[in-house]
Amino acid sequence: MKTEVSDRAFDGRVAVVTGAGSGMGRVEALALAAKGATVWVADISAESGSAVAREIEAAGGSARFVELDVTDPAAWARFVDEVEQRDGRLDGLVNNAGVSHRFGILDTTDEDWRRVMDVNLSSVFYGMRALAPLMARAGGGSIVNVSSISGLLGYFAAGYAASKWGVRGLSKTAALEFADLGIRVNSIHPGLVETPLLNSGSSAFVEESLRGVPAGRVADPNEIADTVLFLLSDSSTYITGTEIVVDGGLTSGGIYHRILSDLRERGDA
Ligand SMILES: NC(=O)c1ccc[n+]([C@@H]2O[C@H](COP(=O)([O-])OP(=O)(O)OC[C@H]3O[C@@H](n4cnc5c(N)ncnc54)[C@H](O)[C@@H]3O)[C@@H](O)[C@H]2O)c1
Repeated sequence: MKTEVSDRAFDGRVAVVTGAGSGMGRVEALALAAKGATVWVADISAESGSAVAREIEAAGGSARFVELDVTDPAAWARFVDEVEQRDGRLDGLVNNAGVSHRFGILDTTDEDWRRVMDVNLSSVFYGMRALAPLMARAGGGSIVNVSSISGLLGYFAAGYAASKWGVRGLSKTAALEFADLGIRVNSIHPGLVETPLLNSGSSAFVEESLRGVPAGRVADPNEIADTVLFLLSDSSTYITGTEIVVDGGLTSGGIYHRILSDLRERGDA
């Protein structure tokens, strides 16, 4: 089995990354371009998105910036036409754009609920519905939807968790529906990743959470990008409808990591 994505694995291929103006999306766009892809850097922020497109071009890659609000289905329809006219094909889609919202059910307003569901979940539906036909016309492709560990377990943030569970389920439905079109669909579930989104909340939250991460640290965005590139590449041609967890062991054994280290600190282990 080929597991390593070779240096020019994406030569001649076209990929879209949403939310590519910052954090993980930026790193994924840079990594795809470095391996030969033409990358559509899609973001609601023209300033940060166009800066990433320039960064890719300065490094010798090929990038196109598009100002896209992923919550707007009409904008997605216009975007498909643009990709078709300029490139005539699409091979990869990373639905990465997302917002954080760390509030429970009782503290979530109707407006916040709708915003989080729109940006984190409806966007994935709009994106796949808009772009899958173009991908199919090019002979198929691969879609990676960015969920979270909060889409795997009980989580304290109501709208965020519901949206990320939704991304996981929607990805499985899409994998089933798009298999005949030659399109694979998978979700990825990062744990704590060093990005502006992670740092938008309290640092105490991150420090305390790390006590439950067996790897003992947050992830570098490149460690998530490696997984995204693997799923977009020909190294994963039989992988569809599944989830890949990239969390340093948090969801598999984080609770015992924390219990054992507490016991050790107290001299009880
Ligand atoms: N950072 C983490 O620890 C972590 C963990 C698990 C999952 N995630 C998920 O990973 C994804 C990327 O997160 P990040 O940490 O890189 O975030 P980030 O805040 O650094 O970047 C998010 C990007 O999405 C863009 N965006 C927001 N709303 C948009 C919209 N309506 N239309 C288009 N673009 C929009 C922003 O402008 C920004 O460039 C998100 O889906 C997030 O939920 C993050």
